Amino acid sequence: MERKIQSSLRILYLGDLVGRPAREAIVANLDGIRRTHGIDVVVANGENATSGAGITRAHAELLHHAGVDAITLGDHVWDRTGFDVDIDGLPYVCRPANLPRICPGKNFVTIENGGTKIGICLVLGRNFMKIHASCAFEAVENLLKNNGENIDIFLVEVHAEATSEKIALGWNFDGKVSAIVGTHTHVQTADERILPNGTAYITDLGMCGPHESVIGREISPVLYSMKFGIPQRFDVATNDVRLNGVVLTFDGNSKRAVKIARFSEKIS
Ligand SMILES: [Fe+2]
Ligand SMILES: [Fe+2]
Repeated sequence: MERKIQSSLRILYLGDLVGRPAREAIVANLDGIRRTHGIDVVVANGENATSGAGITRAHAELLHHAGVDAITLGDHVWDRTGFDVDIDGLPYVCRPANLPRICPGKNFVTIENGGTKIGICLVLGRNFMKIHASCAFEAVENLLKNNGENIDIFLVEVHAEATSEKIALGWNFDGKVSAIVGTHTHVQTADERILPNGTAYITDLGMCGPHESVIGREISPVLYSMKFGIPQRFDVATNDVRLNGVVLTFDGNSKRAVKIARFSEKIS
């Protein structure tokens, strides 16, 4: 019997999805993007998917149904009331790994594609973050120890404000994991590369959502608040919707990263 050999595996990893504009862009376009770019697996950060703060069970299901194979979260993980209960019914949703162990939800998600096992985890940074997390280095080390052996492609997302923290984690785990991608700042960086020992790396994937905004929110209330110090309601903006992230290409045999390419597609 002829056996199909997977020559390469391509993963589209998208940065923070912000609000309805991002959800609608995914629902309307992800199928076409998968076909055009030959994508096998899609991972997306959904921490801002519901009104810019957190994600509901219904929105996680919507995104999964639209073709997002795994959804990661971040410091907004618990912003939606009841999500701490709902998360246990969503096996494709990954919460930050360096939260207290007692927290609900999975800290490691596995996807299988054509016989290849892909593991996904994310850790929160500790610099300039409001949410208190334990050591990200130790958390990744532990995940590698507990899950690494059975995994062909090991993806680590670093959800952090400080570029230095993300870059440090990149160097620390170069050659130990398949890829390290940053999220949280909502601004895509231009430093994608394969590190010397073979790990694909980028400091930030950027944001999926409205770019005529201040990192996804309407401009005027943010300006008012920043200039006068008077708190405002920050609604999600609407214009210049783009999907940002990277396409990671892995060799079908060795499962090593062979390419990391920035992805940025203007939707409306
Ligand atoms: Fe975010
Ligand atoms: Fe965040």
